[in-house]
Amino acid sequence: MISTLSASSAIEVRDLAKSYRNIEAVRGVSFDVRRGEIVGLLGPNGAGKTTILQTLLGTLTPTSGTIRFFGLDFAGNRESILARVNFSSTYVSLPYSLTVRENLGIFARLYGAAEPGKRVQDVLDRLDLADLADRYASHLSSGQMTRVCLAKALINDPEVLLLDEPTASLDPDMADRVRKTLVGLRRDRNTAILVTSHNMREIEALCDRILFLHVGRIIMEGPPREITARFGDADLETLFLRVAREGRG
Ligand SMILES: Nc1ncnc2c1ncn2[C@@H]1O[C@H](COP(=O)(O)OP(=O)(O)OP(=O)(O)O)[C@@H](O)[C@H]1O
Ligand SMILES: [Mg+2]
Repeated sequence: MISTLSASSAIEVRDLAKSYRNIEAVRGVSFDVRRGEIVGLLGPNGAGKTTILQTLLGTLTPTSGTIRFFGLDFAGNRESILARVNFSSTYVSLPYSLTVRENLGIFARLYGAAEPGKRVQDVLDRLDLADLADRYASHLSSGQMTRVCLAKALINDPEVLLLDEPTASLDPDMADRVRKTLVGLRRDRNTAILVTSHNMREIEALCDRILFLHVGRIIMEGPPREITARFGDADLETLFLRVAREGRG
């Protein structure tokens, strides 16, 4: 079936649900992300953010619903889609016994880069990591590892980037640099980015649009400023606190 959306569509999610045994983690979620758009997925702990990202990566199978990337059905085109998508999380690390450059080199080859060494250097430069290239992964601080994992996520020049709390372990300077890298990717590569964060100021600064998830459902959607204005809150943090607490009753 041809997608009804134009060529600008990166991700289309319809009625996505995911249950773990008796826990309904995601309860019928629908949203789109366009190319070149940075969308923030936010919500309280346990709202279902990581579960959604894992279903988009195919590491979790949805209980129901459909996912399309670039107008293509994910279930029927997994391999070709995943070649054009990548993922990073603060809570994932890389094999410890290899250097940063060796680690990235393996991923460059796995993705079939024409010149793996050059590709590795490109991502090291984009994330300002050249100084760490020959360190063993086991010797990295947690913030350094986070940035190396982000470099790994760029190794296939992805059209869609799924990021689970990419700045959670970073100092304010590094977090700012990562945000600038993401904005640069959108500008240079028209990358579509779906990102989770608990830092509301970051979301306001970075995201064109937010999806506010609460107990597995999207309860608000729109540009951050528009949403705060609509609900009369001073900023996203105030709105988050109010909604999260009222929502819990
Ligand atoms: N493997 C699992 N088995 C059972 N329940 C799970 C599993 N993974 C997550 N859950 C539950 O699903 C719900 C959603 O979890 P998820 O990790 O998606 O939340 P999140 O929005 O990413 O939260 P956080 O902000 O804490 O990262 C939670 O209630 C969680 O306890
Ligand atoms: Mg999570």
